This record gives sequence, structure tokens and C-alpha cells, in this order.
Amino acid sequence: MNQARLLHTSSVVTVGASHGRPLTEDDTWNLRGLQVEYVQAKRTAEELALAAAARDRDVVVVNPGLLIGPDDHEGSFMIAKLFMAICRLSPHLRKLIWRHWYQFLARSYKREEWSFINYGYASLDPQTEKLQLDDADEPDRYCIQLYHHVANVVDLKDLKVLEVGSGRGGGAYYIKCFLRPKRVVGVDFSKRAVAFCKKRYSFVEGLSFVVGDAECLPFRDDSFDAVVNVESSHCYGSINAFLMQVKRVLRQGGYFLYADFRDKDEIDNLRRELRHSGMTLIKETNITTNVIEALNLDNERKLALIQEAVHKMLLGPFQEFAGVRGSMMYEGFRTGEVIYSSFVLQKPNHQ
Ligand SMILES: C[S@@+](CC[C@H](N)C(=O)[O-])C[C@H]1O[C@@H](n2cnc3c(N)ncnc32)[C@H](O)[C@@H]1O
Repeated sequence: MNQARLLHTSSVVTVGASHGRPLTEDDTWNLRGLQVEYVQAKRTAEELALAAAARDRDVVVVNPGLLIGPDDHEGSFMIAKLFMAICRLSPHLRKLIWRHWYQFLARSYKREEWSFINYGYASLDPQTEKLQLDDADEPDRYCIQLYHHVANVVDLKDLKVLEVGSGRGGGAYYIKCFLRPKRVVGVDFSKRAVAFCKKRYSFVEGLSFVVGDAECLPFRDDSFDAVVNVESSHCYGSINAFLMQVKRVLRQGGYFLYADFRDKDEIDNLRRELRHSGMTLIKETNITTNVIEALNLDNERKLALIQEAVHKMLLGPFQEFAGVRGSMMYEGFRTGEVIYSSFVLQKPNHQ
């Protein structure tokens, strides 16, 4: 058992046999506190996820040889499916996998012009006034529009804003420069993403980035007027712990401006958690169709970028991650299996 060799294929944890000894169906062992089980037979990603759930394991691990078919593209698609399936399982494992994934992205893709990681937003109303952007920001139009939709619901001018899950910093930069708060702090649990942001945006006064976990924010009580959170909370181990932190760092009367997606059978759970957060839920908007529209309009650009920048074994995971047309994520939105919503909450003035 101890001869098992741990490999990290992007962020998907896989285990392969070492010293020529093939692992058997019965092999189980503890991987950094996770209950792990090896599955010998060739299985689909869904079958693996179901097997893990049924046997109360955090993860079922498959020898990469069994997962990856003779055709590279098929293998890459299978990795994407396994990745998505595992993420639906254990909160602990989900957090671990996402952390590896975002660290991997920040380490491997240093292009300065890549400053957003979200599915975007496009208005469906032809009367909507087009957001005025600099030419340099045009490629990020839909990602910026998502931030605009989320953060422009209250006047942030001269306020102190925290963004949790600030990623590659494009959203925090947009908020600082276009919505004119006094200060924006971006926090992210990926050290490498934060290092990227610090370097990339060092020239912007009043914009800073720190490493921290959404479930244990490194800030004093009552220290921000607004907290922004865009497409990050699906990675967290406990949404409840996150909401308690948001409420704690917000001053009385402060706003929580929030957007993310959930499977349709999880969205009621999320609403319940928001209602029980001790903050007042002022508004909820289902923006799934706006997200699909953005994904459609941005499809070719994303495909070209991925084709240019990504190794062919990772095309599947990246296309899935980017939600390109035909991906499981895109189909999830299109068929209503996955719902993308935005929310406005306010911390009460008197406790
Ligand atoms: C899909 S990206 C979104 C980034 C950014 N909000 C955007 O829209 O461009 C999710 C981000 O959340 C961060 N994240 C995930 N879990 C986190 C946690 N527990 N604490 C802090 N950041 C987290 C990831 O590192 C990643 O940068």
C-alpha cells in the first residue's frame, strides 16, 4: 500500500502503482486525511463519483491508464468529467482541489492580459446602454459586465470595499477605477494569484491584494462598507462559515454583493443559508440567460485563446472550465440544471 505513488495531473489527484505492483481493487489508504479507494476497472467519471459517495470515501482514484483512452481528446474530456464529478462530492476535497487548480493556473499562465476568470454577463435588452470601455478592456467586456451587474447596485464612491476570491484582479481593478471607492482590497486563497495581482496592479493607488481564506478572513470586525464576491463561493468548504465572515467584516448597514452558480437542487439550500446569515436578503436575480448569452458571444475568443495557450491534454478541462459551447457547464446552464444568480444583502443597522 505504501508503495503507491501520488501524482498530480493538473489538480485532479490520481494515484498510480509504483515498483511495477499493480494496485488491487481492495487497496485503500489515507491520503492527507482523505479516505481514498482505488478502483481497478475502467469506469466513467460519474460511476467513479457515485462509487465514492456510495462507499463513503472522499475520493475514488483511478489509475490514469484506465481513465485516459487511446484518443488524447477523449482522455482530456474524461479528466474534465472526473474533475467536475469529484467537485460535487466532499466539501473538504472540493476546497483542496480548487486550491490546487487556481495555484496551477497562476503558476502556469502568467499572461498579464488574462485578468478575469468568470463566465460573464450580457444584457438581453437591446435598449440597455452599452458600458463604455477602453479598447484594451474590450476583450474582457462580458467578464467586466458581470462585475458591473453585481457591484453597481449601490453607490460605492469613497467607500471601503473587500473583494473575496479576487482571482487575477481584473474585477477589483474595474471596481476601483470605474466605481470609484476609496479603497479596494482583494483577497484570495491562491498565493500565486495574489502575487500576480500585486505585481500587475502595483501602479493603482488604493488597490491591494492579500492572501486569505474566505472562511477565515484576515480582517477586523466592521472594517468594510461592502463585500463583493463573484463566481468564487462554489469552491468553498462551508458557505455558512463564509457568510459569517462576510457579516463580521461588514460595518452595520454595509452591503454584500454576490453572484455565483449552483446545481438546481442546491440553489434552495443556498437561499436558505443566505436568509439565515443574519443579513437581509434584499434582492435575488436569476441571471442564467444573461450568462448563456455572454458565453455564446465570447465563445470563439475563448476557444482561440485555449487553443493557443493550453497543452492538448488539458483542452478538455480548460474548455469545461471556460464554459465553451457544448461543455457540461454550458449545457448545465442551457438545460436549467445549473442556475446562476446574483444577490444583494445588507447587514442590519442594529444588531
Ligand atoms: C472562478 S475564479 C473567479 C475570480 C474572480 N472573482 C473573477 O471573476 O475573475 C474563483 C476564485 O476564487 C478563489 N477562491 C476559491 N476558494 C477560495 C477560498 N476559500 N478563499 C479565498 N479565495 C478562494 C480562487 O482562488 C479563484 O481565484
